[in-house]
Amino acid sequence: QKDGYRFFMEKEIYEQSRVMSETMMGRVLDKGIEFEELSNDFFNGINAIKICACGTSYHSALAAAYLFERIAKIRCDVEIASEFRYKEPLLTQDTLFITISQSGETADTLEALKMAKGAGLKSLSICNVDNSSIVRESDAAILTRAGIEKGVASTKAFATQTMVLWMLALYVGQQKNSVPTELLAREINAMLHTPKALIVTDTLHTKLHRLSKRYLHGHGFFFIGRDIFYPLALEGALKLKEISYLHAEGYPAGEMKHGPIALADSELFTIALMPKSMHYEKIKSNVEELSARDATICAISSVPFDLADDFIKTQYDSHPMLEFFEMMVVTQLLALEISVRLGNDVDMPRNLAKSVTVE
Ligand code: F6R
Repeated sequence: QKDGYRFFMEKEIYEQSRVMSETMMGRVLDKGIEFEELSNDFFNGINAIKICACGTSYHSALAAAYLFERIAKIRCDVEIASEFRYKEPLLTQDTLFITISQSGETADTLEALKMAKGAGLKSLSICNVDNSSIVRESDAAILTRAGIEKGVASTKAFATQTMVLWMLALYVGQQKNSVPTELLAREINAMLHTPKALIVTDTLHTKLHRLSKRYLHGHGFFFIGRDIFYPLALEGALKLKEISYLHAEGYPAGEMKHGPIALADSELFTIALMPKSMHYEKIKSNVEELSARDATICAISSVPFDLADDFIKTQYDSHPMLEFFEMMVVTQLLALEISVRLGNDVDMPRNLAKSVTVE
């Protein structure tokens, strides 16, 4: 039941505002974050976090690493599950092992979890499917409450995973008394505004439909961002390549000059994530360098940018995470509209399966 939408993916993009509220319900409170899934002593003895995941879930993990270190002041590193499994990692028991998975059945993530458990690590999963293999295998689980995700390209699962991880970073900070009251209030306030930033307006969707026609050709896309917007750039590029079959890469904006800028010409499409509340001047100068080499620039920002060939104006810029989620919606819809114009099957892209239960 697509409820009048053309594709499940489209429906799921539109659902994000609602499922985000559900994911926060009973967990985001005025006084702070609560997880009834976690005992009060869950973080006792934990001094570091390691996250393992695949694909889109790996991208939410990358964003989380910035949040854990910045908000909770706890060391956090992230690995692709299929790499982690065979690298003979050194694990210490003061590390909490977190897995992130929409399906809870991804073979590489599940095996990584079993390995970490074998090494005696405490485990926590962030998952969208209750009673899935990964949930059953973990010491504790936090469910993302995104509802069933049918589109092969993950959208609302990514949004809710990132939200749970942001909440968890604040929760760990509270447990460790490392979050100043002002920061706590600021984060809670931003969380409560998130569902608003996820609402898809007709104006936005129509605009993306119109401008998508410019982006059907050319020799590739670079999605660029800094800080947490770098994982978002990776995710934007993954969405586009999955459903449009166009070549797209996500890149840290500051790295372009170390090689990839050699590709810049008018047929290189750059999707620039330019948040006002996070390193704006830095990303601006990275984009200016690309523009000077004739790259076609599609800027996503609340701040008008003169050099943009296309400009998508965002509204919620009082907190980086609000900008993150609003820009996430823009990149999802842009991928969708490009894919539709190319005549692809948005919900069942070629060569992909919803759940990857083989190695
Ligand atoms: C991308 C996508 C995949 C999954 C990956 C992990 O849109 O859906 O990259 O994110 O296969 O799947 P889960 O999250 O179920 O472990």
